[in-house]
Amino acid sequence: MSARIIDGKAVASKVHDEVAAGVAEFKSKYGTVPGLTVVLIGDDPASHSYVKGKERACEKVGIVTETIRRDASTSQAELIEIIEGLSADPKVNGILVQLPLPKHLNEDEVIHAIDPLKDVDGLHPENAGLLMLGQTRFAPATPLGVQRMLVEENVEMKGAKVVILGRSKLVGMPLTALLLQKGVGANATVTVCHTGTKDIAAETLRADVLIAAAGFPGAITPEMVKPGAVVIDVGVSRVEDSTRKRGYRLTGDVEFEGASELASAITPVPGGVGPMTIAMLLVNVLQAANLAATNWHHIRKS
Ligand code: GUN
Repeated sequence: MSARIIDGKAVASKVHDEVAAGVAEFKSKYGTVPGLTVVLIGDDPASHSYVKGKERACEKVGIVTETIRRDASTSQAELIEIIEGLSADPKVNGILVQLPLPKHLNEDEVIHAIDPLKDVDGLHPENAGLLMLGQTRFAPATPLGVQRMLVEENVEMKGAKVVILGRSKLVGMPLTALLLQKGVGANATVTVCHTGTKDIAAETLRADVLIAAAGFPGAITPEMVKPGAVVIDVGVSRVEDSTRKRGYRLTGDVEFEGASELASAITPVPGGVGPMTIAMLLVNVLQAANLAATNWHHIRKS
């Protein structure tokens, strides 16, 4: 069998159109446009490239974006001051602190300083808690993107055996919470594999939907894929490649060639989950703007 390739760019483009329409409606209602501020600390090349992608996507759909760039020596107190300023600024609807932060900074404390109503990454404990309770306000963009892709691909999720490789706060954990809930694109039986799992292949071989978010190439070999499974590859790693002009190529967690012989559908890297992450961030920014606008009107009326 040769798998259907799931086109993340095509699904993302559909989401972009929806957000662009939402932004236009927002503008006609409130006379302003939604705004996202990204905070980027240090000079990690991958982070700089992700942030560029986010800025470009915002511009395409009419979201105003600003990136605050600071060097890697920024102190915790300076960063918290920036975040508190953005949290208090009514022109800012969404705040995203690009991760990972340099090692000397306390990521949790920084995330806690974000106004939860502007936390478009869905990482603030208030939003993570709401997601766990099935009262989702903001879920992280990558899990939302994975779920949207599965819905667009008409993958039956109700009762599906889903195996997620990885338990990170950005992907594995929130994706588990999303797919466990009742509702469209969810209601699945979810197993999470991690470094403490005894026999990962025994788990993955049971998966109707296998989601790899381990963060290293070769985490999923073809022997770990059940024939006919849907395989979603969240991993993005740079591997040296002297045949490429930039000296590297991007690769996922899954050994694509072999896995695509077995799977019924599979996402490529690049062009799979990556574009969906950006698209769902835009959805979250529009939602944050609508939240702010409706709360503001509520306060003004009372
Ligand atoms: N670094 C890699 N992915 C992400 C993401 O989705 N959000 C943030 N803030 N940082 C990231």
